[in-house]
Amino acid sequence: MEKNFKRYLITTALPYANGPVHIGHLAGVYVPADTYVRYLRMKGEDVLFIGGSDEHGVPVTIKAEKEGVTPQDIVDRYHEMIKKSFEDFGMSYDIYSRTTSKIHHATAAEFFEKLYKEGKFIERETEQFFDPERNKFLSDRYIIGTCPKCGNDRAYGDQCEKCGSTLSPEELIDPHSAISGAKLVKKMTKHWYLPLEQYETWLRQWILEGHKEWKTNVYGQVKSWLDGGLQPRAVTRDLDWGVPVPVKDAQGKVLYVWFDAPIGYISNTKEICEKRGDNWEKWWKSEDTKMVHFIGKDNIVFHCIIFPCMLKAYGDGFIVPENVPANEFLNLENDKISTSRNWAVWLHEYLQEFPGKQDILRYVLTANAPETKDNNFTWKDYQDRNNNELLAIFGNFVNRILVLTHKYYEGAVPALENLNERLANSSKTTSSAKE
Ligand code: MF3
Ligand code: ZN
Repeated sequence: MEKNFKRYLITTALPYANGPVHIGHLAGVYVPADTYVRYLRMKGEDVLFIGGSDEHGVPVTIKAEKEGVTPQDIVDRYHEMIKKSFEDFGMSYDIYSRTTSKIHHATAAEFFEKLYKEGKFIERETEQFFDPERNKFLSDRYIIGTCPKCGNDRAYGDQCEKCGSTLSPEELIDPHSAISGAKLVKKMTKHWYLPLEQYETWLRQWILEGHKEWKTNVYGQVKSWLDGGLQPRAVTRDLDWGVPVPVKDAQGKVLYVWFDAPIGYISNTKEICEKRGDNWEKWWKSEDTKMVHFIGKDNIVFHCIIFPCMLKAYGDGFIVPENVPANEFLNLENDKISTSRNWAVWLHEYLQEFPGKQDILRYVLTANAPETKDNNFTWKDYQDRNNNELLAIFGNFVNRILVLTHKYYEGAVPALENLNERLANSSKTTSSAKE
């Protein structure tokens, strides 16, 4: 049975501020979330709608390096761009903030520190690839080598973009640095891990037994992760862009982007509540709050397993999501949307080229939402839906109502009566009332 909640905390995945957003993001995450939020507000519910940019992570530093600018330059540029395009598109956020904010750095650092002090992490020293020319450890994306599966000699340490395989740097043949080209050496380094396996029983009870109503793609992915056995997950990285690890002897280390980013939902809640003189904790630490995360399918494990384990480990009354509606992907003209190949319809460009046509895009992306399988966006379909559904069917419906309102009710909307009675009477007269 659906519980009665007093308030709704709705979050949308924080897009990486290393590029603009495209229709795939909109269809999977932002349009469904905004629609749900508008519906809740129309019902008179108390809603807080949280968005923001995810500004850390390796993709940002890679982009900065490519352009010869700083990571801060990159996130400043794209944060502003994304924020503005969401505004112009009509997203009804209460706040759209960013993870480079002061309040976020403080919140994420405090979060880590509490878990650290309470012994919720394991410390491990491992050997990692090190670039002897640049004198730094390299994250997977900075390691390039030959893919063991397809022979592509530009495969990354985490993925081969040619054959789509997920890789680890160890698997690459002849790994070398993407920055300096140097042959890599191995060096010991210390990191902190969240022992996810300690939360398995709780996760099974909470999701597998308690949330059978979740979408099958989400439920299925969670189940297969749990059945596959959870492992300790590193929550720190050797990098110089991110939230510095707030413990001694951690120079050159930052929080793993997937550790800090979801805490951004909390930081952004704090930021808006501070501004409004509201109490942020009631949104995060009350069983009366229904929290829902809107995400794409590649974010499921982070929002259903890792972030909930972080909240559980932190304790102090933090709630976990009531639902995590993840959507599948949207293709464009039968081809995978790809930022690197520039194959996308970018939101800021759409808004420029189709001024005032936000609702057409919202409609098409809703009618064609990739809810249970990947869907396809084509301009032909956009045109057809606009002409046939919005204009012909919906437009005609509206037009008819206006005409009939003028004809039978002197152009004013009549007061609501008992519809059943009216229906019974009108069945006798329908033929005469037909236009
Ligand atoms: N930036 C991530 C992505 O685009 C999403 C981060 S969601 C958050 O896939 F919860 F971590 F913020
Ligand atoms: Zn490959």
